[in-house]
Amino acid sequence: MHILHVVGARPNFMKAAPVIRGLRSRPDITQSLVHTGQHYDANMSDVFFSQLEIPAPDENLGVGSGSHAQQTAQVISRLEPVLLDRRPDIVVVYGDVNSTMAAALVCSKLLIRVAHVEAGLRSFDREMPEEINRVVTDRLADLLFTPSEDGDKNLVNEGVAAEKIHRVGNVMIDTLTRLLPLAKACPKNGFSSRFALVTLHRPSNVDDPGVLESILKSLSNVSGDLDVVFPVHPRTRQRIGALGLRLDNLHLLDPLPYIEFLSLQTRATVVITDSGGIQEETTYLGIPCLTVRNNTERPITVTVGTNVLVGQNPVALTAEVSKVLGGNAKPGAIPPLWDGHAAQRIADVLESLPLSSPSALQASLR
Ligand code: UD1
Repeated sequence: MHILHVVGARPNFMKAAPVIRGLRSRPDITQSLVHTGQHYDANMSDVFFSQLEIPAPDENLGVGSGSHAQQTAQVISRLEPVLLDRRPDIVVVYGDVNSTMAAALVCSKLLIRVAHVEAGLRSFDREMPEEINRVVTDRLADLLFTPSEDGDKNLVNEGVAAEKIHRVGNVMIDTLTRLLPLAKACPKNGFSSRFALVTLHRPSNVDDPGVLESILKSLSNVSGDLDVVFPVHPRTRQRIGALGLRLDNLHLLDPLPYIEFLSLQTRATVVITDSGGIQEETTYLGIPCLTVRNNTERPITVTVGTNVLVGQNPVALTAEVSKVLGGNAKPGAIPPLWDGHAAQRIADVLESLPLSSPSALQASLR
């Protein structure tokens, strides 16, 4: 069986790495890897391949940046000939980025089966581009690997047949548990022992100058109580530059490699973020997480984990930081199946699939 993985952006890499690793020892499976090139900077892509020991991609589509339509269209048109040439039995896509949805669309038109890792998550907020990507990808996927029970429920509510859904747990946690010893062994950073670790990149937080300025001001206020360490996504770096603010009291860094960032997460007093994956990682680590969003597609990090949604409200953010500093952080636990073995469960399901019918593939090539 030939399994082809498609990845494109930073949050895909830590999800694909354990699945590729988990399939490597299965004798009847060959694998290939396509990088769409949605993320292309060395510190957004290459360093993750080396730290996570992902093999070099067999193909890089080099789509780069652009509007959502342009980026999606580029992936679609550049991926199709690769699939026609390589003829995989199944394509595995990850998460909710534009590359994920575009790849699922190409495959479904070619009658190639699609497996979606991290299926079923819903914010129910269609203003979030990733929500569109999630809904479309899940609609098209033949196999849906969910990280938690809410994912199964969302899919069943949308009419997905129960036999397509496999609750396997969280592959991000597979990568985290594997690399945690290396992260803990990283030398201590030069920041004070109490620090807030910040990431922000959602269009809803960084594209509107007024919203971004208000969030940065709250972070400046927080910096009176503890160091604020902020590895800045390229999109956010551009937007902060355009504001022309002096932010001397924040430690602005370039995006960090996986292990160094995980090291900071393990040592942070509090994490302030709008990322999806970081809500999950902090829940696993038991580190307080304040999410600068009104909703989350990962509700289990709130119901079970350490996550608190503070919206874009500066008062709520500073109040929650004070709670953490006062020793009253929200307690949390680790959700079921976030145990470091999700990829093995995915590999078991993939390995047991019947091979695709040659007649279906022939039909798609007409
Ligand atoms: C994408 C994903 C988002 C994910 C995030 C993680 C979509 C819709 N969004 O958002 O879900 O959380 O990745 O990082 O797929 N840029 C660079 N170098 C790069 C990549 C991007 O400079 O290697 C800059 C470009 O100016 C680009 C901008 O960042 O226009 C945004 O990149 P893009 O891939 O469109 O979306 P992200 O904001 O990274």
